[in-house]
Amino acid sequence: PGDGVGLVSIINNISNVFPPSPPLSQGISEFCNGDNLPRNCSTHYECTHVLEVKRHSVVEVMLYDISVLGLYHPFHLHGYDFYVFDMGNFTSNDTEGNVKSILANHENKLRNGGYKNPPGKDTVLLPSGGYVILRFKADNPGWWLFHCHIVFHMIVGMDLIFHVGNDYVDLPPVPPFFPRCYNFKPKPFFNMDPFFI
Ligand SMILES: *[C@@H]1O[C@H](CO)[C@@H](O)[C@H](O)[C@H]1NC(C)=O
Ligand SMILES: *[C@@H]1O[C@H](CO)[C@@H](O)[C@H](O)[C@H]1NC(C)=O
Ligand SMILES: *[C@@H]1O[C@H](CO)[C@@H](O)[C@H](O)[C@H]1NC(C)=O
Ligand SMILES: *[C@@H]1O[C@H](CO)[C@@H](O)[C@H](O)[C@H]1NC(C)=O
Repeated sequence: PGDGVGLVSIINNISNVFPPSPPLSQGISEFCNGDNLPRNCSTHYECTHVLEVKRHSVVEVMLYDISVLGLYHPFHLHGYDFYVFDMGNFTSNDTEGNVKSILANHENKLRNGGYKNPPGKDTVLLPSGGYVILRFKADNPGWWLFHCHIVFHMIVGMDLIFHVGNDYVDLPPVPPFFPRCYNFKPKPFFNMDPFFI
C-alpha cells in the first residue's frame, strides 16, 4: 500500500483499507466489493471491503487459501456466532476444480441432511492450502468486521465488513452530539517540518 508496507493480503482480489471514521455513527463515503470495484487497478484493489447483507438472510461463506506460505489463518467474525459446515485440504493444485467439487459435495450434503449439528464458533482456522465453509443468520444489524486475527494480516488487508440491514430502518439513530472522529496521523517523533517527512 501507499504507506510503505511491501505486502498486501487480498480477499476476492480486494485488499481492505479501514475507513477514516466509524461507519456505524458516521456512515461511509467509499467502499467496494465484487459488484462495485474501483476501475483503474490492475493486480488488486485497495478500498474498504464491504459486503451488503439483507437482514435475516442466511450468509454462506467459503474461504480458501492458495498461498504457499503454510500459514493457517484464524478468521474471526464480530457480532455473530457462525456454524462451521465443512473444512479440509485441497487435494490438488487445481483451485477451480477443487472449489467446484467441494461446493457440489456441500450442496449435496445440505440437500440430504448430511450435516448433523455443525459446531457454532466465532473464530475458525482456515487451513493453508485448504478451505472452510461457514454460515450465519444475519439477524444482528450493524457493521461487522470479519478478519484474519494475525495482526499483520489485518493491517495489510485481510478483512472485510458485513453490513447487515439498513441503518435507518434497523438501527437506533446516532445520539445527538455523539462525538465524531476522523483519520488521525500522530505528529512525527522529531519535531520537523512535515514537508521533510
Ligand atoms: C482475481 O483476479 C484474477 C487475475 O486478474 C482473476 O483471474 C480472478 O478471477 C479474480 N478473482 C475474483 C474473485 O475476482
Ligand atoms: C487511479 O487510482 C489512483 C489510486 O487510487 C488514483 O490516484 C488515480 O487518480 C486513478 N486514476 C484514474 C484515471 O481514475
Ligand atoms: C490437512 O493437512 C494437514 C497438514 O498435512 C493435516 O494435519 C490435517 O489433518 C489435514 N486435514 C484434513 C481434514 O484432512
Ligand atoms: C500442478 O500439478 C501438476 C501435477 O503435479 C503439475 O504438472 C503442474 O505444473 C502444477 N501446476 C502448478 C500451477 O503448480
